[in-house]
Amino acid sequence: MEKKISIEYTQLTDWKELNEADQKLVVAAENILKSAYAPYSKFSVGASLLLSNGEIVLGSNQENIAYPSGLCAERVALFYAGSNFPNETVETLCVIAKGDLVDIDTILSPCGGCRQVMVETEMRQQKAYRVIMVSQNGSATIFNSATQLLPLAFGV
Ligand code: THU
Repeated sequence: MEKKISIEYTQLTDWKELNEADQKLVVAAENILKSAYAPYSKFSVGASLLLSNGEIVLGSNQENIAYPSGLCAERVALFYAGSNFPNETVETLCVIAKGDLVDIDTILSPCGGCRQVMVETEMRQQKAYRVIMVSQNGSATIFNSATQLLPLAFGV
């Protein structure tokens, strides 16, 4: 039997079309990307999470000379939230980046490892959260659930 999986998302030409709360997350993510430690890729990424208690948790990518030891901005933020706010749910995740590694028109799309963590966060909290990706050209891509980003995720 042939089956098909499709995903749904919204695209805005300019992230300034987002509502005020979402714009605040974009600005926060854009600010935290300045703290990225990315001497190897020269690609700085910032992630912001809005939690159910209104707290905004931030993360930036942290690299290491032993390359696989580094961690993406999304996982830095998600693991910080899991450690420090274990009883809160993630409501929105926003990610933004700067650097030549990808073309400015490319959707800034979280890596596979981050997606697996994003999906499990959703499963743990039993509540979907929105994912906002801001490309370097200023456009925003919005998903209503992290599971949309990783169909057939491992273990789910
Ligand atoms: N990176 C992130 O932090 N998030 C993403 O969504 C994509 C990639 C980081 C990992 C590495 O430090 C650098 O960007 C280049 O891949």
